[in-house]
Amino acid sequence: MSKPSVLIIGAGAAALSLIASLPGGCRGRLLTKASVRSGNSMYAQGGIAAVRLPEDSVDSHVRDTLTAGDGHNDPALVQDLLAEGSALVNRLARDGFPFDRDARNRIRLGLEGAHSFHRIFHAGGDATGRVLMEYLLDRTSGRASILEHTTVLKLIVEEGRCAGALALHEGRLTEFRADAVVIASGGCGSLYARYTGDSGITGDGLMLAYEAGAELCDLEFMQFHPTVLVKNGTTYGLISEAVRGEGGVLRDEEGRAVMEGRHPLGDLAPRDVVARAIHAEMQNGRDIHLDISGCERFGERFPTITGILERAGIDIEAGRIPVAPGMHFMMGGIKVDGSGSTCVPGLYAIGEAACTGLHGANRLASNSLLEALVLGERAARHSFGYAARRHSERTEPKFSRLPPAENLGALEVPLAEPAELQRQMSLHASIVRHDAGLRQLEQWLRNLPTESVPLSDLTREKAELARLWQLARLVVRSALLRTESRGAHYRADYPARLDSEWSGRTVTHTKAAAA
Ligand code: SIN
Repeated sequence: MSKPSVLIIGAGAAALSLIASLPGGCRGRLLTKASVRSGNSMYAQGGIAAVRLPEDSVDSHVRDTLTAGDGHNDPALVQDLLAEGSALVNRLARDGFPFDRDARNRIRLGLEGAHSFHRIFHAGGDATGRVLMEYLLDRTSGRASILEHTTVLKLIVEEGRCAGALALHEGRLTEFRADAVVIASGGCGSLYARYTGDSGITGDGLMLAYEAGAELCDLEFMQFHPTVLVKNGTTYGLISEAVRGEGGVLRDEEGRAVMEGRHPLGDLAPRDVVARAIHAEMQNGRDIHLDISGCERFGERFPTITGILERAGIDIEAGRIPVAPGMHFMMGGIKVDGSGSTCVPGLYAIGEAACTGLHGANRLASNSLLEALVLGERAARHSFGYAARRHSERTEPKFSRLPPAENLGALEVPLAEPAELQRQMSLHASIVRHDAGLRQLEQWLRNLPTESVPLSDLTREKAELARLWQLARLVVRSALLRTESRGAHYRADYPARLDSEWSGRTVTHTKAAAA
């Protein structure tokens, strides 16, 4: 007898957390366009934020999240999700997850920007994402089939419900039917020239969901991480905020502390504040470095970063890491409720692809793996519940044939190099924006020549470029519409937060409204 089925698109921590929680009565199938070990979660250094110390509390974590989010979070969701998240992470620790521990077997807790307490659980020093992925992968075996190198090109929507996906699999367009579909394909870092994550993160899931009728929101809020190692114009990788938590100090060429006098939390101010400060210094022609001379046992605490420094030919003993801000995380995404449900029945979104309202206008450090774990578990319950109901309602055999190629539709693919798109986005829609630049960019995007490529002829590369271009247009529109500065969205022409006009307002896009 067949089982209710859930199709998962994407393979990061959120996707694996979901699969690990799917009940045995479910047929899970995961599609990822690359390898299961290649996504952004593998790169996560800092850790997972959760309350552990007796002097800390969920209320304090909530306050920090709301402060960093600059008045744009959903407070009820934040409270609920962080309480559940702390319980989940402490449960992981009890279940034997290899969090780093001290000589007395106490969990070592890191400190990151805008946190009031040490509450960052980490593993492998600065390899939390990789360790977590391996841990979850172990727990997914037998619960889902995993198809790698399979690029989803379209979601199947029938009678208003999401019922599967069409994907490029083994060189052929293939239909994957399911009772419920979950998008977990990450954000859109490759919209920008300098990115802390995997270059294959191109906003595909967002645009698939948009085309299927889901809402996209908060796209103007892009988080730029303050410290990416950039040497002689080459980007080498992320330098975790945890380094500043261990005593790293941002300095200019004369040795002046960049954050001094700029924010009461100094180097551990919220990320948007630190990224803007470095950006401003760099605009004035000053190079910025992270002084790590005060960090004890750097190599032991940060083995991944030590490897990055070695690749860049930087001597740790000299204690100076050249840094610049880089695109890191998208706070917005596919609008979902606290269980990952979108407004399209049968369609769910989790992880960075989703916008739950947890992060507001600027995500608090190490809240993203936490959200991925919680939403993964919750969406497993909800998507399975939905799938089971759908499955029992169905009478027709779950078999269908692909319609003729000419009925599958086409994608408009811009005739442009991805690098030029990234350059334009970095110039006009990154850390500091203003009306004239955004309008110029909007026009450039609109005027790009395109070719119409039938779905049956698409390659992964062309599909990615099309998705980046489509999403770029929505991001720019959102940034133009929000005529204030809040969190990671900074408008030089509207430098203040305007609560009277913008508090509680969300810029949302739907295909129906655009038509
Ligand atoms: C970092 O390690 O600085 C990044 C952690 C995060 O993005 O939450």
